[in-house]
Amino acid sequence: MTTATNMTGAPGHAAAIPSDGLAALDPHRIRQDFPILDQQVNGKPLVYLDNAATTQKPRAVIDAISNYYLNNNANVHRGVHTLSQRATDDYEVGREAVRRFINAPDVNEVIYVRGTTEGLNLVAHSYGRKYFKAGDEVIITGMEHHSNIVPWQILRQEIGIRLRVVPFNDDGELLMDEYESLLNDRTRLVSVVHQSNALGTVNPIAAMAELAHARGIPVLVDAAQSVPHMPVDVQALGADFLTFSGHKLYGPTGIGALWGRSDLLNDMPPYQSGGEMIRSVTFEETIYNTLPHKFEAGTPDIAGAIGLGAAIEYLESIGMERIAAYEQALLRYGTEKLGDIEGVRLIGTAEDKGGILSFHMESAHPHDIGTILDAEGIAVRTGHHCAQPVMARYGVPATVRASLAFYNTTDDIDALVTAIDRVIEVFG
Ligand code: ALA
Repeated sequence: MTTATNMTGAPGHAAAIPSDGLAALDPHRIRQDFPILDQQVNGKPLVYLDNAATTQKPRAVIDAISNYYLNNNANVHRGVHTLSQRATDDYEVGREAVRRFINAPDVNEVIYVRGTTEGLNLVAHSYGRKYFKAGDEVIITGMEHHSNIVPWQILRQEIGIRLRVVPFNDDGELLMDEYESLLNDRTRLVSVVHQSNALGTVNPIAAMAELAHARGIPVLVDAAQSVPHMPVDVQALGADFLTFSGHKLYGPTGIGALWGRSDLLNDMPPYQSGGEMIRSVTFEETIYNTLPHKFEAGTPDIAGAIGLGAAIEYLESIGMERIAAYEQALLRYGTEKLGDIEGVRLIGTAEDKGGILSFHMESAHPHDIGTILDAEGIAVRTGHHCAQPVMARYGVPATVRASLAFYNTTDDIDALVTAIDRVIEVFG
């Protein structure tokens, strides 16, 4: 498998992380690993601040995908021929990388999925359909992405389950007393986002899991926005299921992972069916394959899995603690700078938050702000961020969201601030 090259010069996990987070890594060295960042957009140097929507890909990931198609392209788990063996080996190297990255106990508990959305749907439609009855309750929070709302609403229509929603305060922090009071004998699952894509809030998953487990309730974690930005350990979190997307983790689109406890996954019915997920088929009976294959029907996204593995190896070579320290310092810098601009209202000011700077301005519509920023070469997301209940909670139709990655710099934040000044010049 292609390993990360052209690295930062950072010595990785072993070296101490400087107390000044901005010195934790050298973003200018890192940017050399991301060819796409070195370009002009609308005549200005690209400032990419849309990392919560998708991250850019390091050369190591692009090379790993090219290497598969140039040298090893074959189907996996199906051939004795050399190309198939190579493809299978690299595909499984990716799975082991996922296991290691989230500290899962067993590699067979790692299921490749299309992304977080499919991971959440898999649990809803396999676990939920098997175990939920009318009147059972699923707890989510008020800051979920639509992908952690709609699957449960579909089960509500089909089965008659009840959806209970944990509210949050004006800073975007969950009301833990309310959460505790929602847990009851009818609760069958807690499904919660680790880091909110719209607010940046990092939720106290370990504490939530402890309360749920005291009642024997499993916890599903949407880690799409957390795994790219901090060390995530499924065992330390006390998760029972956890899912994330490759493309927000500097890997390719179309691939992600669902991890689940093997005792739960073993008892769950298949989510999709066809080739690969079977042990034997006759017209009378089909015997399903073991984990993880039971949940991987059909030819998978082989190149995607290999690219995901390469992305994880790349991140490991820098160190997630180092990345988290740097991004936290950049977030503090950005929060201060944006907080100083009159007319800018930051949405999401939790004590514990990741690199999301969502804001609203009374004077200008978010889409107009986004257009002015784009003219300055700055990429942000504007809209409801697939979290309409969050927008409703703050009484805004949409926000402008700048979302950070470890290749962003204080210069990127300064460019954003200058462009917002331009918005104020135009709209007042
Ligand atoms: N869920 C992604 C976002 O927050 C697409 O932008």
